[in-house]
Amino acid sequence: MKETMIGVIGGSGLYEIDGLEKATWQAVESPWGTPSDEILTGTLDGVKMAFLPRHGRGHVHSPSTVPYRANIDALKRLGVTDVISVSACGSFREHMAPGDFVIVDQFIDRTFAREKSFFGTGCVAHVSVAHPTCPRLGDACEDAAKAAGITVHRGGTYLAMEGPQFSTLAESKMYRESWGCDVIGMTNMPEAKLAREAELCYASVAMITDYDSWHPDHGEVDVTEIIKTLMGNAEKARGLVAGLPARLGAERADCPHGCDKALEYAILTTPD
Ligand code: ADE
Repeated sequence: MKETMIGVIGGSGLYEIDGLEKATWQAVESPWGTPSDEILTGTLDGVKMAFLPRHGRGHVHSPSTVPYRANIDALKRLGVTDVISVSACGSFREHMAPGDFVIVDQFIDRTFAREKSFFGTGCVAHVSVAHPTCPRLGDACEDAAKAAGITVHRGGTYLAMEGPQFSTLAESKMYRESWGCDVIGMTNMPEAKLAREAELCYASVAMITDYDSWHPDHGEVDVTEIIKTLMGNAEKARGLVAGLPARLGAERADCPHGCDKALEYAILTTPD
């Protein structure tokens, strides 16, 4: 058995978590650069936790400038085994309303201005991201969300866009009607791909703030509208996070879905 360490990457509105014992902000250096911020470590109900605000305290990193590789590497170096990504998103579905949470299980990656891999010249690897999220972690998030009284939808396709501008109406309709996407955000890619390369279990909790721009009864999306829903969502997310240690436990077996062995057959470069 291995010791569990839950890593929470907090999105817009979630810049800390409650109730950590022995809470300390730690600077973690990585060869991939400096992470978005220091990482808050401690224990919650006897389980080790690490919290990293994705945009930094004070929200200083835009989705395109978040140091995704340094963030995932720093969490791995601290001993994190399970990453819960919490982020704001827009909804393409009437029944997925602002204030609801979605446990995302698929992505379409439309980002283009970010470093997306730990591999390249010198060491070439191709990991599978056919199933980019961990169902075991998804179960824990769904259960913790329900216990916290959150309306949660299990499964959904997340369109990861570059931003920072929101989508045009034509894009919004295309993602929803032709591409079958359920939600849209700017941060889950390449984060999910990098977590897989780092052999970390990864689950994405997407907190809906708006209906993007497709919905005929809602105006175009803007930050004022998002902020109105964001703070309530962040409060709910803190409730969800508080329920994770009891569900994941202080010790863990190997991931039944193989997230922690993603590199086993992925590396092509001959060892020296
Ligand atoms: N984050 C929150 N709402 C969003 C939207 N409509 N599009 C992209 N990212 C978002």
